[in-house]
Amino acid sequence: DTLDPTSLRTPIVAVLGHVDHGKTSLLDKIRGSAVIEGEAGAITQHIGATAVPLDIISTIAGDLVDPDDFDLPGLLFIDTPGHHSFTTLRSRGGALADIAILVVDVNDGFQPQTLEALDILKRSETPFIVAANKIDTVPGWNPNEDSPINATYDAQSDRVTGRLDESLYTIIGNLSDEGFSADLYWRVQNFQRNVGVVPVSAMTGEGVPDLLAVMMGLSQRYMKAEMEIDVQGPGVGTVLEVKEEKGFGTTIDTVLYDGTIRADDQVVIGGMNDPIVTEVRALLQPRPLAEIRTESRFEKVEEVSAAAGIKVAAPDLADAMAGAPVRVVRNRELEEVVHEVEAE
Ligand code: GTP
Ligand code: MG
Repeated sequence: DTLDPTSLRTPIVAVLGHVDHGKTSLLDKIRGSAVIEGEAGAITQHIGATAVPLDIISTIAGDLVDPDDFDLPGLLFIDTPGHHSFTTLRSRGGALADIAILVVDVNDGFQPQTLEALDILKRSETPFIVAANKIDTVPGWNPNEDSPINATYDAQSDRVTGRLDESLYTIIGNLSDEGFSADLYWRVQNFQRNVGVVPVSAMTGEGVPDLLAVMMGLSQRYMKAEMEIDVQGPGVGTVLEVKEEKGFGTTIDTVLYDGTIRADDQVVIGGMNDPIVTEVRALLQPRPLAEIRTESRFEKVEEVSAAAGIKVAAPDLADAMAGAPVRVVRNRELEEVVHEVEAE
């Protein structure tokens, strides 16, 4: 048997939206469902990201996701802050993403950072769907924990679904004003041309199966070719944040989107002036949720494959910049890699 060196990497999903519209709650809900299913260990915590493997997605989504229909390994979700001061972090997250979820509070509707996020998605040509969140707050709502949307719709009175539909059509109208042709996701045929709106509640989990099913379908259908990477190849990524870490000095929180990075790799990183050429001292992953009480917050790992969020400790990172490229040298010419980093 020969091992196939290429495989499909995990698509990167950015979660964007206005402050308090429920981005983190939505990811917490997905993580929490996995914990309830006794699968906490299967979800890996990353720097600024959460990896959810296909079998867990399928467990949460039930009948809506048959794992046999997919060959992508899962989804890597990147949370972003909604507060207005975090524009650069949002645009970095948005630009890195293969696909995105724009979270909109059904009651609050479009807000300044909703529009800003739309702008980022437009400029980076990132396909996205809208999660119309907090449907459980519609007056008179009858909650059905973790239910798919059609089942919970059937359990509501006409008056309640009428109210929700009104909010959803307002969102669809707002999207149209911004130049996006949108509709409720079950009416969308071509998710590249039209934006699907998925009603959800991060609180009750209603619609979360639908959201995961749509994201998997979208990735599988339109992203598959782009997800083919050389898993053994030298890693390529982007710096999300530059941070001081006790015992490690300056570190860079990096999202790796291609290849691998190893604990003994030489790397080139975009710097304030010239590219920084240095050697990895440690690759640090947050400990799993279950081990949160242990003393050290990080676990050293030997190798990470894309897509992943990883903290890199190395000498000489003081001049590293958020948003800058990170490239592993390994068996390549150093000079060539330096030129690539300079050009980015
Ligand atoms: P920032 O990170 O500050 O931009 O906010 P966020 O978008 O991550 O929002 P977050 O998940 O922190 O949620 C904000 C508030 O809304 C919290 O109090 C949540 O409990 C609440 N919330 C989020 N989703 C829902 C939902 O579906 N239903 C209800 N009732 N409350 C929700
Ligand atoms: Mg948040």
